[in-house]
Amino acid sequence: MPEIPINSLRELCENIYLKAGASEEEAKILVDNLIQANLYGHDSHGVLRTIEYCNYIKNGVIKPKTEPEIVKENEFALIMDGHWGFGQVAVYKAMKKVISKAKKTSIGVAVVFNCNHCGMLGYYTLMAAKEDMIGFAAANSVAMVAPYGSRERILGTNPLSIAIPAGRHKPFLLDFATSVVSGGVIELAQARREKIPLGWLLDDEGRPTTNPEDYEAHKEEKHGALLPFGGYKGSGICMAIEILGGALAGSGVSKTTTDNGVFLMALDVNFFQPIEEFKSEVDRLIDLIKKSKKAQGFTEVFYPGELEYRKEQSLREKGGIFIDDEVWNKLLRLDGELSKSRK
Ligand SMILES: NC(=O)c1ccc[n+]([C@@H]2O[C@H](COP(=O)([O-])OP(=O)(O)OC[C@H]3O[C@@H](n4cnc5c(N)ncnc54)[C@H](O)[C@@H]3O)[C@@H](O)[C@H]2O)c1
Repeated sequence: MPEIPINSLRELCENIYLKAGASEEEAKILVDNLIQANLYGHDSHGVLRTIEYCNYIKNGVIKPKTEPEIVKENEFALIMDGHWGFGQVAVYKAMKKVISKAKKTSIGVAVVFNCNHCGMLGYYTLMAAKEDMIGFAAANSVAMVAPYGSRERILGTNPLSIAIPAGRHKPFLLDFATSVVSGGVIELAQARREKIPLGWLLDDEGRPTTNPEDYEAHKEEKHGALLPFGGYKGSGICMAIEILGGALAGSGVSKTTTDNGVFLMALDVNFFQPIEEFKSEVDRLIDLIKKSKKAQGFTEVFYPGELEYRKEQSLREKGGIFIDDEVWNKLLRLDGELSKSRK
């Protein structure tokens, strides 16, 4: 597993996207999102995606050099058509607009449709937190999750992120799929021939299973269905996101494609409370949580985002990001192939 210096990894990936047809602006926005996912320890949404995205470019699913378009707008809200360019670029641009609206009016909201996979949602909510705003993001995605009580794949893994600025502490950063785990985690267990815990997956008959082979993403013969987190409560949140990203954004519910329908919102804290008072209350809550008596089996209590910030710090101190041998070799091969096809 090679440890790649962050700047070298950034440069390699940007070059791959440029050779695959992206503009410089697109390559920069996209790769910054992917690298940040690696730095936060969310490798499933990091540079590894480059292999899949370049395939999508080849097949015409992702259209490079595409400018997202605002199709409807008022002083608070906007609807953005991603025109099937890079999802990260459309959502980044929509969030920039949301933040500028919130600066003027106290709130900004956007939905994005015709939007390819947009990666780690926390990237966008943190953009708001850095401006002393509370950022919200949610997206529906390909149907792989059975609602509570069902065995059918109807909902997406539907991620949710909320970022909240703090004072002495780094922002609160909630950012997760609303399925217990993603399909990628089950595929990893398949590759490693490991059993999975009960509560992650149902087999085709709707029985809880520990066999990862009961899950076959995107294949017809054996489906299996991921389970939502938190029983009927998590299932309800997953369904609400399906509606925000699917029905409200206009990108369709219960998707059969790989894209995202996205909902974004930013609240300007200063409109509601003086920002410094707000931040000191958030700090106080984080302190209470950090100093609280530990439950049996726990040595530390973490607040959302804390593990990601620690991971980033440790990777930066080590000077690089660990990339699986297989992924690294594929990236180098892709770079070589794209260089040849440009000649
Ligand atoms: N675009 C898409 O379609 C899509 C779909 C699914 C997931 N995602 C992204 O994938 C990434 C990973 O999602 P995931 O569901 O695997 O995340 P995860 O299960 O690792 O959960 C991460 C969240 O839980 C918090 N957390 C983790 N352990 C904790 C602990 N011990 N104590 C307190 N808090 C803790 C983290 O700080 C973070 O907020 C996210 O960035 C998400 O946005 C995107």
